[in-house]
Amino acid sequence: MSAHGLAQAQRKMSDGAVHPIAVDVFTRFYGLLESGETGVIPETDVDPLTDVPHAADLDVDEEVARAALAVTAVVKLNGGLGTSMGMDRAKSLLRVRGDRTFLDVIAGQVLAARAATGARLPLVLMNSFRTQDDTLRALADYPDLPVDGLPLDFVQNREPKLLVDDLTPVAWPADPDLEWCPPGHGDLYTALQTSGVLQALLDAGFRYATVSNSDNLGAAPDARIAGWFAASGAPFAAEVARRTTADRKGGHLVVRRTDGRLVLRESAQTLPGDADAAGDIETHKYFNTNNLWLDLEALAAELDRTGGVLDLPLIRNEKTVDPSDKASPKVVQIESAMGAAIEVFDGAVVLEVDRSRFLPVKTTNDLLVLRSDVHELGDDFRLTARVDAPYVDLDPGRFALIASFDARVPHTPSLADATSLRVRGDWGFGRDVVVVGDAVLSDLGEAAVVPDGARVGPAGIE
Ligand code: UTP
Repeated sequence: MSAHGLAQAQRKMSDGAVHPIAVDVFTRFYGLLESGETGVIPETDVDPLTDVPHAADLDVDEEVARAALAVTAVVKLNGGLGTSMGMDRAKSLLRVRGDRTFLDVIAGQVLAARAATGARLPLVLMNSFRTQDDTLRALADYPDLPVDGLPLDFVQNREPKLLVDDLTPVAWPADPDLEWCPPGHGDLYTALQTSGVLQALLDAGFRYATVSNSDNLGAAPDARIAGWFAASGAPFAAEVARRTTADRKGGHLVVRRTDGRLVLRESAQTLPGDADAAGDIETHKYFNTNNLWLDLEALAAELDRTGGVLDLPLIRNEKTVDPSDKASPKVVQIESAMGAAIEVFDGAVVLEVDRSRFLPVKTTNDLLVLRSDVHELGDDFRLTARVDAPYVDLDPGRFALIASFDARVPHTPSLADATSLRVRGDWGFGRDVVVVGDAVLSDLGEAAVVPDGARVGPAGIE
């Protein structure tokens, strides 16, 4: 049945003009999926990652840093759809500071870094077929952004969603676009190659790429880190950060005993009996921020050696074919994670960075903090935290989806004096609201609005 499924999927991909190398990558993952491969990494097979240098302690020669940045390209992952926030387009088109979107801030960071350092710093987005049009339309506001004839983006590959029951490609005539999905951000390496952008960057004299998620505005271009990476001679580097108790359940980096390589262990790859060990943040101290540094020559050589099929672990992602219709057929999406490539490169290295380089927006809770006065946007478009970010927990039933969040919070409250904010129930926010201390808004059982200018504290509206 499933050999049949693979053949159908391959045919659909070639009919859909998907690049043959992307079909090969899909075929390898399909085999792993069928064999029930779980990618489990037992605690007994690994050592904790220790002795990680910190970015603040680096001694980088200014000339080395300048020279490295001069041959560095900025790559932003922009192919995801923000489905957890109910979006079906790029998250980077959301407003994040005043009227500015994530994309405006990213463009501003790149243009400011160019002005400050004289580096060419091309910005290249990895879009998916769902995010490209809107994104390029938004970037047309920045005529100075394209450099050296390089494209502003490339489109990642696409693959069929597979029916959970028999792993055949799903048919969804109501909206055939929904029969396809992007294969996760691990597709970066394939898409760089199949789009020709990897070669174009090398031809234009670029040796390195600084890669990060477009929803992480902390990852601005950084000359010192570029200098450190170039001087290391490593093929691949990951910026890692210290896990806190809130990250206990998440993925972390470990050292594989058999070959000493750095490996990402996601929570799904942990044995049930290893849960305590994996959650011990004093032993396993670091998580991957997904800010990566690539030596493009080393990447081209590895892709050449492997026929374009890197040995990345499979992520089996189960969804419904129409994400907005939970009753639609269940599908499997074959995905992989970009950071998992750390195990592919012999000699890969890590660098510890502060949380200021890791400001991801996964939920509307994160978005509220980023929009608020907790952060300041500098002339260089870098975000600086003025105070420790409060812990925000909005009622998921009312605030999780971006449309209802925006309708309920049209004006971002001040959070600079808040330690936490918990909201339950049918609340909306007026203008100039100030949140202080461990603030709580409880469920009143009916719709309510925090009035203009009100203070919200531990006892609710004060
Ligand atoms: P996430 O998976 O965290 O975010 O991707 P998402 O895809 O935007 O949100 P959900 O999972 O649908 O709710 C992290 C980064 O990787 C990019 C996203 O655009 C984001 O910047 N990404 C993700 C891709 O570029 N391609 C993909 O196939 C998946």
